[in-house]
Amino acid sequence: MWTGRLIVVLGLPVVSSAVLAAACGSEDAVLAPDAREGRRIAISAGCAGCHGADGEGGVAWVGTFGAGVELDDGSRVVVDRDYLVRAIAEPDVDVAAGYDVAMPDNGLDDEEIGRVIDYIVALGPETTFS
Ligand code: HEC
Repeated sequence: MWTGRLIVVLGLPVVSSAVLAAACGSEDAVLAPDAREGRRIAISAGCAGCHGADGEGGVAWVGTFGAGVELDDGSRVVVDRDYLVRAIAEPDVDVAAGYDVAMPDNGLDDEEIGRVIDYIVALGPETTFS
């Protein structure tokens, strides 16, 4: 009797800290190392100011990869790695429609761009044009 009760009481803090870690650890807990590095770069390079610390910002990255996006010339493209490389390396090419702000130039090198894209891919479930 007593033992059972003791286990329940002692077990509780362990369970709640595990739940808390899952809830508060945000993306880091589930991201693969390359994607986690991409998230770190996006935050330190100032991308998070517009794209959000967890990719949920004004221009969301969550759910972007594999989705269709409309460009300001009216065409539609699928967000694949090539599109994302262009979007980061040449922000004034293939501009997505519907934003008042312009994405600024940035000094990311190919390696950093690759990691940020790993992060965006990790955030985006593949979806199709509706
Ligand atoms: C001042 C706000 C701002 C900042 C800072 C910014 N972006 Fe953007 N970004 C935008 C806007 C607006 C768009 C959509 C228009 C376009 O395609 O240029 C965009 C589009 C993108 C896209 C294409 C995704 C899509 O849905 O079309 C990627 C990838 C991206 N940004 C990466 C980055 C990275 C990496 C950084 C940091 C080095 C960064 N951005 C910094 C505003 C910003």
